[in-house]
Amino acid sequence: RRTAAVIPAAGRGVRLGPGAPKALRTLNGTPMLIHAVRAMAASRAVSLVVVVAPPEGAGEVKNLLDAHALPERTDYLVVPGGDTRQESVRAGLGALPEGIGIVLVHDAARPLVPVDTVDAVVEAVRGGAPAVVPALPLADTVKEVEPGAKGEPEPVLATPERSRLRAVQTPQGFDRATLVRAHEAVEVSGEGATDDAGMVERLGAPVVVVPGHEEAFKVTRPLDLVLAEAVLARRRA
Ligand code: CTP
Ligand code: MG
Repeated sequence: RRTAAVIPAAGRGVRLGPGAPKALRTLNGTPMLIHAVRAMAASRAVSLVVVVAPPEGAGEVKNLLDAHALPERTDYLVVPGGDTRQESVRAGLGALPEGIGIVLVHDAARPLVPVDTVDAVVEAVRGGAPAVVPALPLADTVKEVEPGAKGEPEPVLATPERSRLRAVQTPQGFDRATLVRAHEAVEVSGEGATDDAGMVERLGAPVVVVPGHEEAFKVTRPLDLVLAEAVLARRRA
């Protein structure tokens, strides 16, 4: 079964603060999106990378892919994204050619995921799991609250046992037909699903976790840019 990676990169990056769309911001001089594309193409399993670009930025993203050295054994496609991550992933799935049997969905906002993590996810899908997520144990204790008005204290409802919790990352890997069914079954409402595996769970299909990696963290807030650039500098040292 051939494997494709879909990279949702159409978000604005509101939490990162004013500036270009997040995927086009640079880390040590190279756009985050290019780092993410390289991270997927680094896996010998991946034969196609589909980038889901900001709706008005597909041309710019195509130019970026042309301007950067990328592995030649991999094909690259660019499609415009939607208003939510879920819609953007759906657009990427719609661009997949016949013959792709395994799909990775990887956030452009996780530019530094190591190839071993990508390969571990692919291996688990090849081994028969319809949905695979890389994840790590949590450092912080997590509380469920009753969300209140902004700035007001929020009542705590519960404290889930930390040792049973995992923080999920990407790439998440899927049997293609399972992921497509999940996207067909789930309504797009509000911000949409933040996690593809969660949509597969709602179908009742099994989802398994494999070990994630610290360097697969998501660049979300300004401090994450500092961390990402430090990780890159350490790799080059
Ligand atoms: N994404 C997307 N299309 C959207 C929204 C998000 O393709 N309409 C992508 C982002 O580009 C990112 C990934 O989904 O690679 C994870 O989303 P997130 O980290 O939330 O990025 P943004 O939505 O861009 O950031 P923010 O929520 O702070 O605006
Ligand atoms: Mg977002």
